[in-house]
Amino acid sequence: MNLLASVLLPALLASSLAFAQGDVANGRELFRSCQGCHNTANDERKAGPSLRSLFGKVTLRNGRHVDDESVREIVLDGWNGMPPFRYSFRPAEIDDLMAFLHTLKGKHANTPSAPGAAYFKAYCLRCHNPDSRTSPGPDLRGRYTPEAAALVEDGHAGAPALKEWLGEPERKQLLEFLKSEGAAGRGAK
Ligand code: HEC
Ligand code: HEC
Repeated sequence: MNLLASVLLPALLASSLAFAQGDVANGRELFRSCQGCHNTANDERKAGPSLRSLFGKVTLRNGRHVDDESVREIVLDGWNGMPPFRYSFRPAEIDDLMAFLHTLKGKHANTPSAPGAAYFKAYCLRCHNPDSRTSPGPDLRGRYTPEAAALVEDGHAGAPALKEWLGEPERKQLLEFLKSEGAAGRGAK
């Protein structure tokens, strides 16, 4: 066994054993209470974010490291529009639910399929990052309005006037991306 494996293996074993008591199949059943607000099939947002890659990520939206404790806390106590489930499940059921959640490790898609997503990342994300608490601009998901076109073209609040940087078709793609994000957020509410 090489050095790396001898260091990593015990850690991996320990982390999977810690949740061995939960029943994944039962957890999957219990997850029906969550499905209305959380996708696990793809990265599309419902009222809540997709959980497809929950344990494949490093941090939660609240800034905490993704681990059993931080996720359990959100499920028990709720957070930011997420209802608390402390009194909906017995403790053993919470363990089952957690065991199922631990299986959600899909690789997080770097770029959503829409071509406009890349432009959003390049020109907007630094100020409109829903995963950052220090982002100066608002979370744009679920709040698309036609005024966005002018804000993009002429700039706003320190954002550059994109008509000097991007052609018309590219700006259209960016707006399409905003629209689809907006629809995803609003449709679920
Ligand atoms: C009524 C809708 C709703 C239901 C039902 C719901 N959630 Fe949520 N959930 C949310 C919202 C809203 C958020 C916070 C989203 C945000 O701030 O972007 C959230 C956040 C989360 C997060 C944090 C995700 C992250 O990346 O930070 C987890 C984990 C989670 N929910 C798990 C669950 C589980 C497990 C259940 C079922 C027991 C459940 N949720 C049921 C709406 C819901
Ligand atoms: C330098 C930071 C910065 C950058 C870059 C930036 N924005 Fe903004 N944006 C803001 C701030 C701050 C606000 C809120 C204050 C305001 O409306 O002037 C805002 C508001 C908005 C709003 C209005 C939201 C609402 O509902 O009121 C839209 C739409 C928007 N930005 C889109 C974009 C898009 C698209 C990009 C990328 C092309 C972008 N922004 C880049 C800082 C930025």
